Amino acid sequence: MPSELTTRPLTKHFGVEVLDLNLTRMTRDRLYPQVRALFEEHSALLFRRQSVTPGDHIRIASLFGPIEDRQADERKPGDAFEISQVSNVLPDGSVAAEMDLQTLNLKANQLWHTDSTFLPVPALANLLIGRVVTSSGGETELASTRVAWRDMPEALKARVRDRVVWHRYSHSRARISPELAKLPKFHKWPDRPWPAIWRNPVNGQEALYIASHAFKVAGMSELEGAALIDELVAFCTEPEYIYSHRWQPGDVLIWDERATLHRGMPWPYDQPRTLSSICVSVTDADGLHEMLARAA
Ligand code: OGA
Ligand code: MN
Repeated sequence: MPSELTTRPLTKHFGVEVLDLNLTRMTRDRLYPQVRALFEEHSALLFRRQSVTPGDHIRIASLFGPIEDRQADERKPGDAFEISQVSNVLPDGSVAAEMDLQTLNLKANQLWHTDSTFLPVPALANLLIGRVVTSSGGETELASTRVAWRDMPEALKARVRDRVVWHRYSHSRARISPELAKLPKFHKWPDRPWPAIWRNPVNGQEALYIASHAFKVAGMSELEGAALIDELVAFCTEPEYIYSHRWQPGDVLIWDERATLHRGMPWPYDQPRTLSSICVSVTDADGLHEMLARAA
């Protein structure tokens, strides 16, 4: 077992590309411990040009944590878990029109966000794989809310440090289209409060925990809270905190939802674009218990 992986920084501040590693050979005892240590430290990992089948994808994701299954309640007994496709390709194989609800939902992903902050148990990581990529645009961008939090002026930090922020899935959809926001799948979970800061239990590093789903700051009017959330997102997404990933088929991008924001970028909507996504949920070892206690 190699004791060290070969890596290259993605940006000056965060993220690494892991070189010469075949993810399909990673097991709980072999390679995963080193990869997990890089994840805790760098918040984003890139593995280029992998050959990861759907089965590999599920197996690799499950090393990081329990697989998130937002459709569990919609499936009939015996139906298998389906990997979520972040895609503008419709079931009949055609490309969804720009104003189709499917494309509008992808446009909602173009707002800076953290996945699954509206769930009772939120996500630790998203493992996203490039399947069908576009000839231009369609990048996925990540911003480090850990580095931004470190750099933030104390006056701004003081306004949010001990606050609780409320999250609602339909809120981010309503910002794109009222019709989109009405779909039942955006109303399955009650509003969810989370502390504004997530402390990583492994290394003690704090990061701002916010999202496009955040609609209210406890103890503030909705207007004041929304303005504060906008100001925080704007600070965290200054160019120096961003990694922009231009997809090639087979690329695997994994990010720490506790320490980053992300968004998709527009592309020519007549082109198909498909990424396979599996989110895994946080556990107490990732700070869930502490977050729940502080949100109460
Ligand atoms: C996601 C997401 C953005 C993109 O998969 O959670 O936000 O680039 N994707 O499609
Ligand atoms: Mn997302």
